[in-house]
Amino acid sequence: MSWIIENSLNKFQYFLVNVLKCGPIPKHVGIIMDGNRRYARKINVEKVVGHTMGFDKLSETLEWCKEMGIKEVTVYAFSMENFKRTPEEVADLMDLATEKFKDLLKEENKLMMEGICVRVIGDLSMLRKDLQKLIAKAMLLTKDNTKSFLNIAFAYVSREEITTSVKSVIKGVEDELIDKDDVTDRLISQCLYLNSFPDLLIRTSGEVRLSDFLLWQSSNSIVYFSQVLWPEFSFWDFVVCILHYQKSYYKLDEIKLNSTAGVPQNKRVEKYLSILRENKFKLLETYALNE
Ligand code: FPP
Ligand code: MG
Repeated sequence: MSWIIENSLNKFQYFLVNVLKCGPIPKHVGIIMDGNRRYARKINVEKVVGHTMGFDKLSETLEWCKEMGIKEVTVYAFSMENFKRTPEEVADLMDLATEKFKDLLKEENKLMMEGICVRVIGDLSMLRKDLQKLIAKAMLLTKDNTKSFLNIAFAYVSREEITTSVKSVIKGVEDELIDKDDVTDRLISQCLYLNSFPDLLIRTSGEVRLSDFLLWQSSNSIVYFSQVLWPEFSFWDFVVCILHYQKSYYKLDEIKLNSTAGVPQNKRVEKYLSILRENKFKLLETYALNE
């Protein structure tokens, strides 16, 4: 299945989407897509088939998000913990990701027309070279798109992300590019792989944990735990998540009124952040040249 699908909703579903859009809609949704293997067991197929069906569900969900006016989606596709699974399952997941990133690059025209920026967040050095190359190409190709954002957490855990951010802040101070007094929670946010905060975080499969996903970024997120396994997550389950968000929205809004986002940083910090951004893209360019 393609990453970008269109017109899969029926008339009644479109009508419902438009009714929901009269209320508050999250700008950014995070999703822990859990339950692929249990679903595979349930329908008596190989684990890898469950993961493939999980990918198809991601495509469908991205379309629902687009119709709902959600501009940013962050999904947990592969945790660093997942490297501890059997070598066969890890290889299957890497092969699946390789195939899907190849497909994504084939959809270049659609990606550019729809202004989708694809970001893969995680420690890419842990991945196979062929996968690094495809991911880097997708990120470089779409880096200037700003209409919507698809963030894919791959070889990711939040504690590693926060540690990496803190290390780059320490290095900035040691190299005298920034001052000790420049170190604030905002600077640490800006040095994370993802400096964007989901309004709504969804986890499927009935597990009530965050499993090291966006721990920093979800400090004010509304969280919804859905009982269904990811491959069977339906449009109606998605509507329930949005209704849960709308019910809880007024509390989130109060918290956001106290936010300091948007306050400019000083010139020294801005310069340091632009050096970090340049280094990140240089690394991606080297991955894009992998043999
Ligand atoms: C969790 O279910 C799911 C994963 C570890 C993999 C998720 C991957 C996809 C949906 C494919 C996405 C691919 C790309 C390239 C974006 P689980 O394996 O933990 O299942 P269980 O909880 O039933 O054991
Ligand atoms: Mg699981």
